[in-house]
Amino acid sequence: MVKIDNIELPDFPLLLAPMEDVSDPPFRALCKEQGADVVYTEFISSEGLIRDAAKSVMKLDIYEKERPVGIQIFGANLDSMLQTVDIVQESKPDIIDINFGCPVKKVVCKGAGAGILKDIDLMVSLTKEMVKRTHLPITVKTRLGWDHNSIRIVEVAERLQDVGCKAISIHGRTRAQMYKGEADWRPIAEVKNNHRMHIPVFGNGDVDSPERAVEMRDDYGLDGAMIGRASIGNPWFFKEVKHYFKTGEHLSPVGIEERVDAARRHLQMSIDWKGEKLGVFETRRHYTNYFKGIPHFKEYRTKLVTSDESVDVFKALDEILEVFGNYEFS
Ligand SMILES: Cc1cc2nc3c(=O)[nH]c(=O)nc-3n(C[C@H](O)[C@H](O)[C@H](O)COP(=O)(O)O)c2cc1C
Repeated sequence: MVKIDNIELPDFPLLLAPMEDVSDPPFRALCKEQGADVVYTEFISSEGLIRDAAKSVMKLDIYEKERPVGIQIFGANLDSMLQTVDIVQESKPDIIDINFGCPVKKVVCKGAGAGILKDIDLMVSLTKEMVKRTHLPITVKTRLGWDHNSIRIVEVAERLQDVGCKAISIHGRTRAQMYKGEADWRPIAEVKNNHRMHIPVFGNGDVDSPERAVEMRDDYGLDGAMIGRASIGNPWFFKEVKHYFKTGEHLSPVGIEERVDAARRHLQMSIDWKGEKLGVFETRRHYTNYFKGIPHFKEYRTKLVTSDESVDVFKALDEILEVFGNYEFS
């Protein structure tokens, strides 16, 4: 069994990665239903939160059905991060996760996200003070290092553990790599093999098939897998991996009916959460992935992503089921 502080998880848990504009409550709910063991919110700006920016505050919404859930925050200023911890714990998440891995320029240039990989002392002291501030478990998500020449993740992980971090998720790329090349899981395995490490070490980056998840578990010996892109438009990925763990066999591809049903529910949950206008608008980005591979789909795709009223989107989904009811996904 794997434990994040007092949170008990099954062997080799599957974690839904924090993803900006993707990991919102409706998407997290769908992934949870399909077997995600822990879900995270997208990253939330500490500076936005302490200024009560409505967009940041809305990202704090979590629901009972998705527990255990982690709220992820980013920032580089100690005072702001501590105030953020106070605000975040009011929402009663199970975990507060610190983003020390975002490679995007506007975050990095303020010393936050992966920017902090240039100042490991600050990374450790921020974590230490945040741990002291709350009774909730603090976890960290980070990358291997700033660039190829500065990979010190074994030492970094140990220092984070020593100041009270309760789990670490490591994306097997450096900041310099952004999303290029292949994720390298070897340094993550080195972290796990450090005999002083006792907190869970989760691997992240390029887990895009059940076989790769097995590889991460068996060949690299990590404690669990954090899954990002493979789940976008495919919340069934968690179920697929778990089925493969159990049986060594692949599930048959999800059929059109289940996809349409997921898209409908996704839209409805988004409307319930954000209201008609935003709900319709922000669910658009998911449809392409739900229906990827269907030939001659353009007309329907256009309806899904240009209709402003939910009744028209629901109508288009009914039509898709009617027209492509016999389509078999591979
Ligand atoms: C659209 C998108 C948004 C992301 N947003 C975040 C984020 O808010 N916080 C974070 O820690 N990582 C974020 N990431 C990185 C992912 O959590 C993950 O580390 C990365 O995609 C590698 O995992 P994967 O190969 O399973 O996708 C994002 C990635 C994508 C594709």
